[in-house]
Amino acid sequence: MELIDGKKVAAEIKQEIAAEVEKMVAGGKRRPHLAAILVGHDGGSETYVANKVKSCAECGFTSSLIRFEDDVTEDRLLEEIYRLNNDSEVDGFIVQLPLPRHISEQKLIEAIDYRKDVDGFHPINVGRMSIGLPCFRSATPAGIMMLLERYNVPTSGANCVVLGRSNIVGKPVAALMMQKGYPGNATVTVCHRDTKNLKEVCSNADILIAAMGRPESVTADMVKDGATVIDVGTTRVPDASRKSGFRLCGDVKFDEVAPKCAFITPVPGGVGPMTIVSLMRNTLLAAQHTIYQD
Ligand code: GUN
Repeated sequence: MELIDGKKVAAEIKQEIAAEVEKMVAGGKRRPHLAAILVGHDGGSETYVANKVKSCAECGFTSSLIRFEDDVTEDRLLEEIYRLNNDSEVDGFIVQLPLPRHISEQKLIEAIDYRKDVDGFHPINVGRMSIGLPCFRSATPAGIMMLLERYNVPTSGANCVVLGRSNIVGKPVAALMMQKGYPGNATVTVCHRDTKNLKEVCSNADILIAAMGRPESVTADMVKDGATVIDVGTTRVPDASRKSGFRLCGDVKFDEVAPKCAFITPVPGGVGPMTIVSLMRNTLLAAQHTIYQD
């Protein structure tokens, strides 16, 4: 069994990005600039955004954190999005999700200029990704693909089972895994709460991607010997022994599943660190106008 060390790969890629940024700066260009809109004080969102800001510094980017209270109106957020769309000093920006219930996430996402949508959530980026055109790929699926590539996990012709059909992970990672090329060319099955014979379907997987957000629900009896298991779960479960009062729990029962695997990602330190790196990479590509030229 080989552990897929997302923390190490993420640190390597951040160094590669930082080197690229220094070349840009030496060539007279300004630093890539990522802005993040954060609404309210959700603990998870605060942590994610703080990590994004920290990663920007590590990559040599400029970052802006724009905060609003929970009671902000949708119109005020739309106004901020339009401002960022038109700010030539900002290469890309994100609206951290989830948002309070009175605000339509979809409406905000669709208001973002797709050329600055470094989260890859805008329907234009999602659509372009699904038909294999250059686009901003959303962070978690792109991070998973980078891990498979860096560890040379064979994917062509592999049975890939994706657990979960979210717009952020399940659907896009399924699209990428079935796409022509490497990593890709897999035969993909997407499972969800109504899937029949889940155990049987999973036991056929050469690559199992668990993204349903149900802690430790993938058990050893669901996993084939020699499979590659990618655990996208990051549920916070109460843990009195931790200073924070919680620990991150994956969707896979790691201790019993790991011995059966060819490759497996741990939680934390697997997919998590890669998602931020994908965002940094997209911001670099936005600053270099690599994907959209105008
Ligand atoms: N909330 C959880 N993951 C993400 C993400 O990748 N981007 C944004 N904007 N919000 C999130």
